[in-house]
Amino acid sequence: MKVILLGAPGAGKGSQATKIAQHYAIPHISTGDAFRSNIAKGTEIGVYAKSFIDKGQLVPDDVVVRIVDARLKEADCAKGFLLDGFPRSIPQAEALDRLTDIDAVINIEVDFSVITARLTGRRTCRCGESYHISTYHKDTCAKCGQPLYIRDDDKEETIKNRLEVYRKTTEPLVKYYAEKGVLYNVDGNRSIDEVFVAVKEILDRK
Ligand code: AP5
Repeated sequence: MKVILLGAPGAGKGSQATKIAQHYAIPHISTGDAFRSNIAKGTEIGVYAKSFIDKGQLVPDDVVVRIVDARLKEADCAKGFLLDGFPRSIPQAEALDRLTDIDAVINIEVDFSVITARLTGRRTCRCGESYHISTYHKDTCAKCGQPLYIRDDDKEETIKNRLEVYRKTTEPLVKYYAEKGVLYNVDGNRSIDEVFVAVKEILDRK
């Protein structure tokens, strides 16, 4: 099963990705997590990526495509994978077409009015897990016990830029994949569990 999760920042891609990857036993490939891990380790890619991420801009396509290309060649991706946050532009989607085929693109649709509250209230763990202050009241991760932190790009000003970049550069992918006949829209304004039920209904038919 080769699946892409599409959606605006804060649509709930990461929250759904954790559940999907676990339920279908496929690797979860998040380009955002890959960059954050490189930033935490202070690698060359991390330092380079941070200069874009902190401004709410996309990391240049060639860098992202190289990371995904290398990851998809790893043995655990042979039976399928879940891409979260990639592709994010038409050139990235075209590059992905040259690497592999895709079974389903799940587009999580969320009203822009709820996104800022979701992102400013998000608390993230270095293990990739994320929580929301409205439903989770501890400052350590339930999964691994590490302290939670606020992402640098979850500031209101940066969120505004991320949403603009999404509208201009990423949203055209909805049409791109609809034309290929692999797009499935899911209403992301419901609870995390309700959204997951809808995603499962789609993927179980694949
Ligand atoms: P990335 O980490 O991919 O960020 P993003 O796409 O902006 O998405 P987010 O992680 O912010 O949100 P999400 O949709 O995963 O929502 P989540 O489930 O956490 O990328 C970060 C940056 O890296 C980019 O801006 C870019 O600079 C760079 N980058 C990454 N990939 C790139 C690429 N391909 N090309 C170029 N640059 C790239 O949920 C958010 C909050 O809401 C959480 O608190 C959660 O608990 C809560 N929540 C989730 N679902 C629900 C729900 N249904 N109801 C209520 N609350 C919910």
